[in-house]
Amino acid sequence: MPIVNFVNEKKQIEVPAGANLRTEAQKAGIKLYGGINGVGAAVNEVLNCHGFGHCGTCRVKITKGVENASPMGMVESFTFKYNPLGPALFAYIGNEDTMRLACRTKVMGDITVETKPPLNLTGENFFS
Ligand code: FES
Repeated sequence: MPIVNFVNEKKQIEVPAGANLRTEAQKAGIKLYGGINGVGAAVNEVLNCHGFGHCGTCRVKITKGVENASPMGMVESFTFKYNPLGPALFAYIGNEDTMRLACRTKVMGDITVETKPPLNLTGENFFS
């Protein structure tokens, strides 16, 4: 069974192959919703799309084993690139290979996950 390593929480969980990352994280008591660099995290815990892939607030960075995650689907791709309601686009820019929505990601093998990845609102990705 695949192992998901949550680096921020220093917690490893074993999940069935094909398991939904958001569901398994929640079962393990991992909080996925970080708001915008922490601001609004509590609000996002309640106000999110509950796994439909529309709000972009459950985003995580898969720092190792991204090839062991399911491929990005249309809904997830659309949310990252065009969702006007959330900051998902800003998280996605510069992290296209590693940023994923936990609710739309199936775990197929061992992965390492950074929850609540910070937004780089002043970095070179936005103003260069
Ligand atoms: S919970 Fe809304 S995109 Fe994942």
